[in-house]
Amino acid sequence: MIGVVMKMTLSFAPMEGVTGYVFRRVHHAFFPQADKYYAPFIAPDSKGEFKISRLRDILPENNDTIALVPQVLANDAEAFLHVARQLADMGYAEVNLNIGCPSATVVSKHKGAAMLREPETLDAFLADVFSRAPIAVSVKTRLGFASTAEFETLMPIFARYPICELIVHARDRAGMYRSAPDLDAFSAALRQARFPVVYNGNVFSADDFRAVSGRFATLGGVMLGRGAAANPALFRTIRGGDKLSLGELRDFHNALIEAHLASGLSPAFTAGKMKELWFYLHCLFPDCARPYKALNKARDLPSLRTCASSLMASCAFEPARGFQPPV
Ligand SMILES: Cc1cc2nc3c(=O)[nH]c(=O)nc-3n(C[C@H](O)[C@H](O)[C@H](O)COP(=O)(O)O)c2cc1C
Repeated sequence: MIGVVMKMTLSFAPMEGVTGYVFRRVHHAFFPQADKYYAPFIAPDSKGEFKISRLRDILPENNDTIALVPQVLANDAEAFLHVARQLADMGYAEVNLNIGCPSATVVSKHKGAAMLREPETLDAFLADVFSRAPIAVSVKTRLGFASTAEFETLMPIFARYPICELIVHARDRAGMYRSAPDLDAFSAALRQARFPVVYNGNVFSADDFRAVSGRFATLGGVMLGRGAAANPALFRTIRGGDKLSLGELRDFHNALIEAHLASGLSPAFTAGKMKELWFYLHCLFPDCARPYKALNKARDLPSLRTCASSLMASCAFEPARGFQPPV
C-alpha cells in the first residue's frame, strides 16, 4: 500500500553506465513509483551529432513505458540546440542541460561543472540557449566549482532565465561524490528561486528523504541516484509503501539480465553491466565481502548468475541499510 500523496516529484537521476533504457524499463515495470527518469548525458560534437548508442537510449520506442527527460552535455549553444530540435521532433517536451558533471575528462573540455567556473560565459550560453530553445529546458547543476559559496554568484544568473526546473546536486565539483552536501548553501539557493528547485545528493533512505523534505518545504522535488540503484524500491518506501523484499530483488535482477540479452547485448557485456549494478546492490548485504569479491571476478554470465544467486541466498539482507559510500 502506498500511503503518502506527494506534491514533490521524485525522479531517478541519470547515471551513465547504470540507468540506460533497459534498466529504466525493467525498473519501472517492477517499481513504478518514480515520477520520471533522466537519461545519462548525450554529448554532441560541434555539429550536434552524437553516438548511435545514445540515440538508442532515448528513442521514444525504447522509453514508451516511462516519463523520460533526455540530458545534453554541451558548452556550445548551437550543438545543444541541434540536439534539442531533434528531441522536439521525437516528441520530447523537455531537455535537461548538464552543467554539473565533475569528471576530469569532461571538465578538461570546459563542459559540465567547468561551466560554473566562468559565470559570464555561462550567462552568455544560457542567453543564447533560452532565446532559441524549441522545448522547455531544465538545468542540473552543482553549487559551484571550487566552493559551494560560488552559488551566490550563479543563482542570480540562473534566475534571469525561464528554467523549467533547476536540479541542484548540493556539492561543489571539488567534492565529487564524497563531500557532505551543503544544505545551508542549498537553502539560500532555494529562497531565491523563481522556478521549481529539485534537491539531489545522498538521499539513500526514507529517513534521508524525510530530513530533506522536512527542512525544505518549498522544494519542487527530490532526485535519487545511488540510493535507488542500491535499493530499487526506494521510491516506493519513500512514498510509504513496502520495503524491498529479497524475492523481488531476485526477480528484478533476473529480469534485468534477460532484458539486456533481449536488447542484443552480448552475455559478456551483460555480465559487465550487472557487475556495475552490484557495486550498488551489494550495499544491502552487510556481510557479503567474500561472495561480492567472487561476483566481481566472474568471467562470464553463467558464473555471474551463480555468484549472484549464492550471495543473495547466503548473506543477511538489510534493505533499509541503503547505499554505503566507499570510505
Ligand atoms: C556512475 C554515475 C554516473 C553518473 N552519470 C551522470 C550523468 O550522465 N548525468 C548527470 O547529470 N549526472 C550523473 N551522475 C550524477 C548523479 O545523477 C547524481 O547527481 C549523483 O550521483 C548524486 O546523487 P546521489 O547522491 O543520489 O547519488 C552520475 C553519478 C554516478 C555515480
